[in-house]
Parts: sequence; structure tokens; C-alpha cells
Amino acid sequence: MNFDSLGDWERTHDCCTLGSDYTGAEVILMGWVQRRRDHGGLIFIDLRDRAGITQVVFDPQRNAEAHQRAHALRPEHVIGVRGEVRFRPEGMTNPKLKTGEIEVIVDEYRLFNTSLTPPFQVEPEVDAGENLRLRYRFLDLRRPNIFQNLRTRHNAAQAVRQYLNENGFLEVETPVLTRSTPEGARDYLVPSRVNPGKFYALPQSPQLFKQLLMMAGFDRYYQIVKCYRDEDLRADRQPEFTQVDIEMAFVDEDQICRLTEGLLGHLFEKILDHKLQLPFPRLTYDEALARYGTDKPDTRFGMELVDVSPVFADSNFQIFAKLIKAGGMVKALNLKGQATLPRSDLDKMQGKENLVNHYDIQTGAQGVAWIKVQETNWQGPVAKNLTMGEKELLADTAGLEPGDLILFVAGESRVVNPTLDTLRSHFGRRLGLMDNKQFQFTWITRFPLLEYDHDTKRYLAVHHPFTAPVEEDIGLLTDHPEQARSRAYDLVLNGNEIGGGSIRIHHHNLQRQVFQALGIDEEEAQQKFGFMLEALQYGAPPHGGIALGFDRLVMLMCGATSIRDVIAFPKTQKAGCPMTQAPEKVSLEQLLELSLKLDLPG
Ligand code: AMO
Repeated sequence: MNFDSLGDWERTHDCCTLGSDYTGAEVILMGWVQRRRDHGGLIFIDLRDRAGITQVVFDPQRNAEAHQRAHALRPEHVIGVRGEVRFRPEGMTNPKLKTGEIEVIVDEYRLFNTSLTPPFQVEPEVDAGENLRLRYRFLDLRRPNIFQNLRTRHNAAQAVRQYLNENGFLEVETPVLTRSTPEGARDYLVPSRVNPGKFYALPQSPQLFKQLLMMAGFDRYYQIVKCYRDEDLRADRQPEFTQVDIEMAFVDEDQICRLTEGLLGHLFEKILDHKLQLPFPRLTYDEALARYGTDKPDTRFGMELVDVSPVFADSNFQIFAKLIKAGGMVKALNLKGQATLPRSDLDKMQGKENLVNHYDIQTGAQGVAWIKVQETNWQGPVAKNLTMGEKELLADTAGLEPGDLILFVAGESRVVNPTLDTLRSHFGRRLGLMDNKQFQFTWITRFPLLEYDHDTKRYLAVHHPFTAPVEEDIGLLTDHPEQARSRAYDLVLNGNEIGGGSIRIHHHNLQRQVFQALGIDEEEAQQKFGFMLEALQYGAPPHGGIALGFDRLVMLMCGATSIRDVIAFPKTQKAGCPMTQAPEKVSLEQLLELSLKLDLPG
């Protein structure tokens, strides 16, 4: 096949612009062949570029040679056409297409390149598996919906920059080859050739550097920055992801929340023309767990959990009564008007294959008990063990009315809450209570500072070790560290954690005290964070900040269900790239150069 060169041609328009105003104009368009139709002696091509589609027509009367050659055009061939814009004939307009009133009648055409038959069609909806789409991501990215997502992402990044620039922030780049930053995941390591046996860690976040910038007097910092975490992947997690990372000096929680709300308000207005309700509601961590069973509640719908332990503490329903005596609890979810739910759905909540364990978390719940509330009688295994008085108390506590279905989970709070959270999400989705056009933000505040890790038998930071404790709780650090609350906050959007931050420790002594509570001794503290402890002694200002998960935010703004749909070249669940085949083996020479020897299992 002979190819034409671009020659002196310059595009005059994209494939989305031309309309009835342009009839009679001579234009040059370039793009990909979406489809070819031969019809009544004419050849019609849908010509596609990133902006849209324009119909071009090859007519043998107009240019016989071009018409002859156009027979060879196939999907994804790359062409340019010069021709005249004209109205489509009566009855041939396409109201679904922006350019649907016109077509370009070709005077001259150039074939720039051909394409192999694509492994899937470049259409908005494809039935190809994700692995195949990622293997041919360059084709997948030609699909208009994926391109639209990336355009939204670009616009969102510009809007973020605009807002922060106008509010006195400086964008500062921080190192990618650095030391480990403790955000709770495993590090990606990079061996140093010139320092044999030593490794850089890719940053899990720029946490320490942004704090050092505050200590350096930069006052207001931001960065749209890649972070790297070696953790188990899910639809909303990637090994490399992007944060809008922010830090401010001389501020408290309120000022950071207000700045973040202003930023998001600007972003949603600019990108989606959507006015957010400001300020966002706030819930403490304890309240969130009590009412929703999770620190990432979807507040687009109610269906809140109710603690019904008082009903069962002395009841004849021994299973519950015993669990409560052993320090557990019974919580319930009232599914209004769902008493008609078929028995088979209720059975799905029991046993090994139960609904509760179908989601990301294995909650460990033994099962879910239920009562169907009818006008005259209450059905279900729990009901027959309840006295009249207990029934009345239950109806009062849980707001029961005839027609309701109430679900119970009993046990330790760390089992009960996630189980009911899973059920609440399941039924919220199933009953159509999650409206994708709604954006419900919630701040979660006053997290515990530390949590006990049963595996390593030590306390770990719930956020990171530089988070300040609530002032009145500092005294608890020595004897009851688990009771100390932190000055950390998360931002939740429709049940997704889209950001987190805190007021930081800015006094050297308090930082050492928190390290001690975390079981990090003086030597380890010096070895890992010596530079930070040192900087804290040279006039560190009060400071704090936040990082927004940019991929998650854009995913929700685009109405996508996976962050992979808003990342140009994402990785699979196994942290691989089917297109480049990364990660890949390296040569023996490279290993030797890095003083590395592999010892692979098997
Ligand atoms: P945190 O660890 O909460 O905080 O991260 C901030 C936000 O980043 C997003 N996120 C992710 N997105 C995609 N894939 C991942 N693997 C992933 N991990 C986290 C989430 C999360 O809310 N240095 C602190 C911030 C601070 O204290 O200022 C930090 O990184 O949306």
C-alpha cells in the first residue's frame, strides 16, 4: 500500500465543529476511519478524532480516483480529506451527532497509515475484557468515553491549580527517590548502584517533605503528585496514584477544612457546573461508627444502624443475651417496608456463602438474624423469644412499623459494625438509594491516634506518626495510649475516602513521646526520622494539611466505578501492565551492577 505524506496540508477544523454555518466552506479534516459504508455508488466514512465524528463522502462524479481508492479504507486507517461542507440530503440528518446536519464531500484525500484489524471495536461500549483493553490501551484510549474521563481529569487538575495559586499556594516538587515514609503500606524499593546494599524507597506520600517546607517558612504548599504504595489492589486502589497534597502553616483544623471545601466547591462548579452545599457536615469517628458502622459512611441515604443491646441484655433470646454479657453488642438495620423480601434473600445472609462475606471484607459475622414486622404478628427466629415489653422497646428504639424488616448482628463491635455496614451498602444499592448525581461529602474527625496491632503486638499510628494528639488527651499517651484521640480528619464522598490529613506535631518532645507510644525507641527514631526530629528543634511553626486522592475524586466526578477508568495507563489487580509487560525480569549484568543476587522461592 502506498502512503501519502502530510505535505502542505494543515487541519482547518476538528471532527466535531462543522455545522450548518459552514456549508460551502472548503475544509481539511484528519483522523481515523470509524466505519465505511458503500451506498448507492457513494462511499461514506465516519471520520473520527478526539473531538467527535464527521461524515465524509466519496463521490465518483467529484473525484473518481479518490472514490476508487476509498474502497480499501478499513476501521482505524488514518486519513486526511480536503473537501466542501454541504447539507446532508433531506431525511439523512443525524440528530445524535453534533455534526449530524452536514457532510464533507471529498475533493482530495490522503492515506497516512493503515491499521491491523483491532482486537476490539473502538466504540463507547465494548465487550472486551479489561485485560485485553489494557494490553491495547492505545486503542482503548481512542474510545470517546475514556478520552472524556481523561479530559475531565486534565480540567480538574487545572481548576485545582488555579484555586490554590489564587490562594497563595506554591507548587513545590519533592523527591521521588527518597527514604521510607510511614503511611502504613509496603514500600517500593529502588537499589542504589553507587551505594551497594542501600535502597531508596519511593514515597508513599510527600508527608515529611511538606512538613519540612512548613519548617522552611514556605507557609502554603501544594503538589499534584504521584505516590507509590505496595498494597493489595482494589477498584479504588492503584500501586501508583495521584494526590492533591496540601500543607499550611499557622492554621488549625477549621482553616484546613474551609480551604478544602472552597477548593472542592470551585472544582465541582468549574467541571460539573454543580454547586456544593458548604460547609460539609462533620461526624466524629465514634458517631460515624455508631450510626453507620464505618468511618466512610455513604450519607446519600439514611437507614442508620441502631444499637438495640438494651432490648436483649436480659431477654430470653440467650444467644444475644450471652454475647452482650461477654462485652459484645447487638445492632440492627431497619429496612423500611421490606418485610416482603423473599426468604431466599434472607437465607443468603447465613452460612458460608453469605452475602456479608461477598464484599471486600471478611467480617467474620456468624450470621444475620431478622424479624419481619407484620400488622398482627412478628415473624422470624428472634421474635418468638421476645416479651411484649421487649417488642415495644425494640419498636421504639428502631422505629419499627408494620411492613418493616429488621436485621440484627450480634458480637464484638469490630465484627458487628463492618457486617452491618456491608448490609447497609448492599441494600442501599439494591433499593436504588445511591443516586450518582448526588455528591454527599462528610468530614470524619477525632480518630483514635493509635490502634493496637494484634499481629505485631504493638501500637500503630491510625494516620501516621506525625499526627498531633488532641491536646487534652496528651496525658493518656503513657498509660492509655489507645484512648488518645488525634487531630486527624478524613473526607468522605458518597462512601469513598477521598482525602485525609491532620494537624501535625510541631514540638520535638511531643514527637518523641508519640514515637515512644508507638514502640519506636530513641535509636530507631534517630535512624529513621533523625532529620525530622532535628528540624523540629529549629523553630517549627504550628502546621497541618491534607491530601486528596485525585484519582478517586475524578472517578466519582466522571461517574466511573474504577479509578483505572480515569488513569491513562493503569495497572491490573496484580500490579502489572499488560501493555509494557512491566514488571519484568532484568539481566544478570544489571543485577551485578546493583550488587544484587536473587533468591527466588521454588
Ligand atoms: P492518606 O494515606 O489518607 O494520607 O492518603 C490520602 C488519600 O489518597 C488516596 N489513596 C489512594 N488512592 C488510590 N490508590 C491508593 N493506593 C491510595 N491510597 C490512598 C485516598 C486517601 O484518602 N500524607 C497523608 C496526608 C496528610 O496527612 O496530609 C496521606 O497520604 O483518597
